[in-house]
Amino acid sequence: LSILAAILAIGLGGPGNDLRRVVMSRCTTFLEREDPPNRRKICQTLWDAFTGAFVGRDQCEVPLEAYDQLVHSVPQKDHCHRTLFWSKTKHVVHQFTQGTKCLVTLEDTLLGFVMDGLTWCGRNGSRKTFTTGCPRWTQCPLNPVRSFWGRVSAAFAASACGNATVMLNGSLATPFDPNSTFGSIEVKNFNSSRMTGLAVVLVASESDSATCENSSLQNLQKALDPALKYSCKVVQQSQIQGCIADPPLACGKCW
Ligand code: APR
Repeated sequence: LSILAAILAIGLGGPGNDLRRVVMSRCTTFLEREDPPNRRKICQTLWDAFTGAFVGRDQCEVPLEAYDQLVHSVPQKDHCHRTLFWSKTKHVVHQFTQGTKCLVTLEDTLLGFVMDGLTWCGRNGSRKTFTTGCPRWTQCPLNPVRSFWGRVSAAFAASACGNATVMLNGSLATPFDPNSTFGSIEVKNFNSSRMTGLAVVLVASESDSATCENSSLQNLQKALDPALKYSCKVVQQSQIQGCIADPPLACGKCW
């Protein structure tokens, strides 16, 4: 009996199956409102395009373009005036979007929601997917996880329209980091024929002296197409928490 159990475990419960289970279950949860046959089809297409990007490849040789097909194969909604970018503010930003439903981050879209917090990679010459023994974020630049976030962030930024918002961390000396995903990928993919402006929300805590005059924010402003209207406002973290606890009837009234 134990031999049979071992065979079943190898056949059904291998490392790839765990990842598949998480991806498929998050995908169907996200698409809750779609009719079931369509939902299954979309999630299967997503899984196939996702694994197609890295399975069988060296863990440090997955270019961003490997995820092109994935980005093109899933439905993408327009979020005019509601796109929210972030850098070093992950926790508060997601509390805010989930609590108020006012703005939409990459992690509130299908691909970002499904992959948030996951680790994955392939191996040269193997058809399997792995979730352990994969390169860390900075270990090699072209690792499957980092390339995924780079590619989907570029697509998310390119699709932004109207006035977009970014929440930056006012407790840091350089709230705008040109080497972050926001600074190195998203800002460079803004499409000024779709986007009209960028509103910086500098999230501050009582103890710091966050200011929109910060030189890193001047660098952000310089990096933007002059056609985009730039604005900046210091908002206390406590004010955002208050907004999450008691969401306003009209979005936009939080700060
Ligand atoms: N090591 C491990 N993980 C990292 C590292 C690192 N050195 N750098 C970034 N990450 C991953 C983590 O998962 C982290 O929570 O990227 C996430 C965001 O990193 P930040 O530096 O806080 O922000 P940024 O690089 O600007 O990325 C956020 O990119 O994905 C898009 O739309 C999203 O606007 C958002 C931005």
